[in-house]
Amino acid sequence: MQVENLTNDQLAELLVTDRYDEELRRRALALRRKIYGNKVFVRGLIEFTNYCKNNCYYCGLRCENKNLQRYRLTADEILQCADEGYALGFRTFVLQGGEDVYFTDEVLVPLVTELHHRHPDVAITLSVGERSRESYARLRQAGAERYLLRHETANPDHYARLHPVAQTLSNRKRCLQDLKELGYAVGSGFMVGSPFQTPMNLVEDIHFLQELQPAMIGIGPFLSHRDTPFWNEPNGDLQLTLRLIALLRIFFPHALIPATTALATLAENGRELGMAYGANVLMPNLTPAVVRKQYLLYDNKVTGGVEDAQSLEQLKERMAIDGWDIVVDRGDVQ
Ligand code: 5AD
Ligand code: SF4
Repeated sequence: MQVENLTNDQLAELLVTDRYDEELRRRALALRRKIYGNKVFVRGLIEFTNYCKNNCYYCGLRCENKNLQRYRLTADEILQCADEGYALGFRTFVLQGGEDVYFTDEVLVPLVTELHHRHPDVAITLSVGERSRESYARLRQAGAERYLLRHETANPDHYARLHPVAQTLSNRKRCLQDLKELGYAVGSGFMVGSPFQTPMNLVEDIHFLQELQPAMIGIGPFLSHRDTPFWNEPNGDLQLTLRLIALLRIFFPHALIPATTALATLAENGRELGMAYGANVLMPNLTPAVVRKQYLLYDNKVTGGVEDAQSLEQLKERMAIDGWDIVVDRGDVQ
């Protein structure tokens, strides 16, 4: 079966059956092996603030959630996390946070500059949401090379059912376009099984990514959070997520595709399953343990164990069982 030649309807059909999963998995794995061998890239994730001015209906960090204790790391704490990560062997850091108004360019630019000077051989990745083109340009100038910003869903009506009116798909797309034009390696992606999502929405997501051609594609199952409007919605499906990872690998052979924390939360062996279906990136957490449990996008988010960057050796051992080799590398697209 050539998935590249399927019509939209056929692709939507393919998404709702497990009949071809073995075939998809084998093809995805062969492509992944051809391009990246057995290598697994790791990113040190620093969740530096859980303040957010936005109010996404699915996310536990939404501003209307008053049951969350908010935290913000200081510049020194962030730099310390990075130093620790560097010593552990990480050559890329992901500075991830909610859209925290405290982190203006005046605060963020000097931080990125300092990080870049301390560790010039590290790829600095930002994941701090929607900002102006000028802001993205300044941060790029300061040394940030990559930017993660999921589109969440490529269908405007679906987008409007997941976000308040103040947040629009068109602005999200504008941001992604700006980031690309400014020379960032861009990561985008979507949640699998978010409320109201149809198989055709997922086909639209794939088409959107085909237009954008991002270097990185992050997907994970939607997981409900008790303090959000979607508290009673079912979680995304494991097998559908894995099927999509395989399809994305087939459509984007060179992409950097993580086995996400959400996947590892849904299934204990989620990371391994993600790898088996074509993922090639893991993002262990470098956030200080004292605040890590407050970065709760969804309920039961896994922390500790091999999720900790500090446990990189254990993660290496666990991956080695399946023949994967975690490498000390910036992990650029190949
Ligand atoms: N379940 C799964 N993923 C979520 N995200 C936010 N909330 C949830 C949730 N409840 C994802 C979004 C966002 C990324 C940082 O985390 O896709 O882009
Ligand atoms: Fe804020 Fe991001 Fe959560 Fe939306 S998904 S509420 S922007 S942290």
